[in-house]
Amino acid sequence: MNILGIETSCDETSASVVVDGQIMSNVVASQIKWHQQYGGVVPELASRMHTEKINRVVGQALQDAGVTFSDLNAVGVTYGPGLEGALLVGLTAAKTIAKITNIPLIPVNHLQAHIYAVYTDPVPPEFPFLALIISGGHSIIAQVNDHFKIEILGSTRDDAIGEAFDKVSRVLGLGYPGGPAIEKSARDGNETAFKFAIPMKHEGYELSFSGLKTAVISAVQQFSGGEMPVNDLAASFQKTIADTLIHKAKFAIANSNLKEVVFCGGVSANSYIRTRLADALSESGTRLIVPAFQYCTDNGGMIALTAYYFMQQHPGYSGTINSVKPNLSLCI
Ligand code: KG4
Ligand code: ZN
Repeated sequence: MNILGIETSCDETSASVVVDGQIMSNVVASQIKWHQQYGGVVPELASRMHTEKINRVVGQALQDAGVTFSDLNAVGVTYGPGLEGALLVGLTAAKTIAKITNIPLIPVNHLQAHIYAVYTDPVPPEFPFLALIISGGHSIIAQVNDHFKIEILGSTRDDAIGEAFDKVSRVLGLGYPGGPAIEKSARDGNETAFKFAIPMKHEGYELSFSGLKTAVISAVQQFSGGEMPVNDLAASFQKTIADTLIHKAKFAIANSNLKEVVFCGGVSANSYIRTRLADALSESGTRLIVPAFQYCTDNGGMIALTAYYFMQQHPGYSGTINSVKPNLSLCI
């Protein structure tokens, strides 16, 4: 079973080939340096860059995996959530390939795909498990009961965690994307220098990060005109995010009795948060499973893997999704 996966929901043009459930290639053309000058992703620019890169990225993914179009059995493509124009580029490419080679086309939900990135682990989680899907656009706590059976327990009421990283990074003058910049700055900072409260501490599965972002901005304003302790602010903010995720994960475990937790989405590339979460959960005998670094942020590998598991669950599927358009809803 050879599956091509295509991802163009935001600012990475990516394609991957999965052969019998193994990722054989994963080509990611990042647009970060073009968006950096604007301090964030510019949707129109993203669509144009996807259009420019998609053919070369798909060609490279096939070549790296040693397959040709005629060897493919199915194509998976992100159909949402994401930027509409950006999604359309991947969808158009995938529909064209499926039509010409006469193979099925699988619409893949980007958030589900972040979870499937952990199937690169030699010991993947067993159902049911808890998933923390923490990216630039979403922050969701979910219970995964079976393949493609996901129950959302809670999500952010406002900013996503990745978005908070990006905004805090901007006020600290650390640039875009904020996650890696804050993580690096925080290594030289004192994480107890500033005390920020855990948001929604007593609100069950509910999450919210705009208040924390505002608290950091207020702390920054105290230093206007003077020297700002950037590293301490970065470290204290990052610690509060880790504390929050630990607190919410422990709450979820206590309420559900689940023994495995998946941490995925772009923010799961943060080594500090990965370590803090893993240590805190292991104390209660819970295993944390995190994708390998290259499969945390957006990538075609997770799309192709999701499509592979979809085909396993739906043998004989022959959809061509002629009618499928970008799905902009937040649901999984
Ligand atoms: O999953 P992703 O690549 O795209 C979306 O689906 O949104 O996540 C991107 C987000 C950005 O907000 C970025 O700042 C954050 O993930 N991110 C990180 C790290 N690397 C990326 N956040 C914290 N620490 C990191 N090392
Ligand atoms: Zn993502």
